[in-house]
Amino acid sequence: MDNISTTIKTLVKKHGKKRESLLPVLQGIIKQENFLSEYAMVLVATELDISAAEVYGTASFYSFMNHKKGGKYIIRICKTITCSMKGKIQVLQAIEDMLKIKVGDTTPDGLFTLLETNCLGWCHKAPAMLINDEVYTSLTPERVREILSEYLTKNK
Ligand code: FES
Repeated sequence: MDNISTTIKTLVKKHGKKRESLLPVLQGIIKQENFLSEYAMVLVATELDISAAEVYGTASFYSFMNHKKGGKYIIRICKTITCSMKGKIQVLQAIEDMLKIKVGDTTPDGLFTLLETNCLGWCHKAPAMLINDEVYTSLTPERVREILSEYLTKNK
């Protein structure tokens, strides 16, 4: 069995073979592999006994699909309405300025990939973003600069 099959089987065992496990299983794959391939999505569908289209739909809704390998840290900033109204544009601008990349890009050192996602379910603490599977809420440009500085220091 290849690595990805083992990873998926372990995650399905942990979360249970049910459709509600889809999201945690996908997040688990990203946490370990930093990457969600079409092959992995098909394996998840088989393991959870759901259609590949459903896996694909969920993965694309959350911008989990990276057809190319992303950075070590995947930043997913929520682009849905509440976050947009609560200052997401300024937060995104602060990230772009600090990392000198645009949405869809990876920093040249391979550390960060910047993506947008749909609602993360943290609207009450908008704006929100994920860095890999870590949620950050109530963001401001200052706060996001602090968070990114911590990641940069960790990786020096
Ligand atoms: Fe951004 Fe819901 S709108 S978390």
